[in-house]
Amino acid sequence: QKQGFDWFMRKEIFEQPKAVADTLLGRLNERGELVLDELRMSPELLRRVNKIVIVACGTAFYAGLVAKYAIEHWTRIPCEVELASEFRYRDPIIDPMTLVVTISQSGETADTLMAIRHAREQQAKVIAICNTNGATIPRESDAVIYTHAGPEIGVASTKGFTTQLVACYLLGLYLAQVRGMKYGDEIAALLAELERMPAALQQLLDERQGVLELAEQLKDATSVLFLGRHVGYPVALEGALKLKELAYIHAEGFAAGELKHGPIALVSQDLPIFVVVPPRGRDQLRDKVISNIAEVRARGAKTIVLGDADDDQARAHAEVFIPLPKVSTLVQPLLAILPLQLFACELATLKGHDVDQPRNLAKSVTVE
Ligand code: M6R
Repeated sequence: QKQGFDWFMRKEIFEQPKAVADTLLGRLNERGELVLDELRMSPELLRRVNKIVIVACGTAFYAGLVAKYAIEHWTRIPCEVELASEFRYRDPIIDPMTLVVTISQSGETADTLMAIRHAREQQAKVIAICNTNGATIPRESDAVIYTHAGPEIGVASTKGFTTQLVACYLLGLYLAQVRGMKYGDEIAALLAELERMPAALQQLLDERQGVLELAEQLKDATSVLFLGRHVGYPVALEGALKLKELAYIHAEGFAAGELKHGPIALVSQDLPIFVVVPPRGRDQLRDKVISNIAEVRARGAKTIVLGDADDDQARAHAEVFIPLPKVSTLVQPLLAILPLQLFACELATLKGHDVDQPRNLAKSVTVE
């Protein structure tokens, strides 16, 4: 069943080009427009939505954080992202004009399910993004967008995350389309870019050797930091989560701009710090991240930088550089996360951990 791989997780990392392609399949018509028939929500209703609230847990929550940037940019609808376990306990402001989007690989997460029930009691419409046909969460939602990742067995979510990102992008672009937003050309370009993602993910897998060697070099690290800005920030959070759950190493993700507000005190000689550098085009943002790298390097940190393959400036600031295929800012998380997944999987393997069944964790968390 593992088809020659040592772990389901590694197999699932390698399945991402196909999982992303399958999630995109059949969602574009011959005119290059998005079709999300399964949504069964009228364009009129979607045009009336005045707020989006994304609710999820763990990795799915981080996919939601990325989605917020994309959805707000494309639709100009305010979008909040909330941990499902917090949502219903804070008396959230939702009404029939609120669109609640839940994200869950398993479709059985109790916290997320309870959040859905609460949202529907307030008459909000709920769209579930889910990987498991007929699970409780899609059954209790008004509509569902299925990711087509295939079964995810490893406790650590990998292809679940990347296909959730794709589904969120599709939803955001679809909302922009039905609301007649002015980003016509941008939408077409993004859809074309998404179509190129399976090949870009395959390229990252083919070029994995550097990441595997890095895991060998860092296997005795006791703490690892991850930094990013904008959509690179949730990537940093997800990279840290993967390392915590698999390698049992202290790992934290920070918004790079927050460094000077506290976390820089953690930086010491040889501390490994992963930094996600945004692609060119967002130069203000990119310049800031590059100066963040210089700040931590000056304090002796070991900088591992993920950036555009042709970004010589980012490369020059890196002790180890992980080149990413060229892509636009909002889509970069889809690629940037793969080396981090592979790094955590490899490091945990080297430490002799059970990668598919990390201690204290369950694949679906069906208790609140
Ligand atoms: O099945 P779900 O997507 O609802 O699960 C949510 C989280 O429990 C899950 O993503 C968890 O954080 C994973 N262990 C992350 O790798």
